[in-house]
Amino acid sequence: TTAPLLAGVRLLLTAGPTREALDPVRFISNHSSGKMGYAIARAAREAGADVTLVSGPVALAAPQGVARVDVESALQMHQAVMNRVDECDLFIGCAAVADYRPAQVACQKIKKTGDNDQMVLTLVKNPDIIAEVGALPSKPFTVGFAAETVDVEQYALGKLQRKRLDMIAANDVSQSGQGFNADDNALTVFWQGGQATLPLADKLTLARHLVALIARHYRP
Ligand code: PMT
Repeated sequence: TTAPLLAGVRLLLTAGPTREALDPVRFISNHSSGKMGYAIARAAREAGADVTLVSGPVALAAPQGVARVDVESALQMHQAVMNRVDECDLFIGCAAVADYRPAQVACQKIKKTGDNDQMVLTLVKNPDIIAEVGALPSKPFTVGFAAETVDVEQYALGKLQRKRLDMIAANDVSQSGQGFNADDNALTVFWQGGQATLPLADKLTLARHLVALIARHYRP
């Protein structure tokens, strides 16, 4: 018998959306369900990896044998990742992290008033978690995702370079029936000097193909 593909590899993985609070009862978020990231967690565990899943709020149970760390906001996800990144060999960023958060979080519920027909929200930039991981002097092998609606390849290659990733898995989230919250997905994976197409499939099948592809390129 041969050793599993990722035997003994310590994987840190993010999944799901983040929630950026406006007040005690409201937030800004996105349609990520966590399905893609949780499928990767399961596939990587099956492949022998030691998996820590940093998860935004989703309705999924952690796959068997996977350690899960729950977070809500991008700032919390950033902290949870930075606290653990030194102890991982492989980092995969599948979370749909909010790029911006409200500049102020109201302590009390924001009230509707009779004289305000418009309301302006000021947003401030969140830290780019995977770019910080990519910039570490002894960085893990780093795999990002890119969710794009147009010019998928061009934007994905830009992120591969700018965020100093080893690989990037791009999905076209303008296609219905794949991407955010769907059960299926399709990916084009890019690395320095190569690419591979992983055609439309259920997210667990796709995750197993992605894990096999990562294992072929992984260098500790
Ligand atoms: O959760 P599902 O419903 O299954 O949907 C899966 C998915 C569509 C969310 C997933 O396949 C996906 O594409 N995840 C990345 C979504 C995203 O936010 O992409 P992006 O192009 O905005 O970000 C690029 C990369 O930077 C990602 O690896 C992201 O995790 C990372 N990032 C982005 C912003 C930020 N502040 N910190 C980050 O680390």
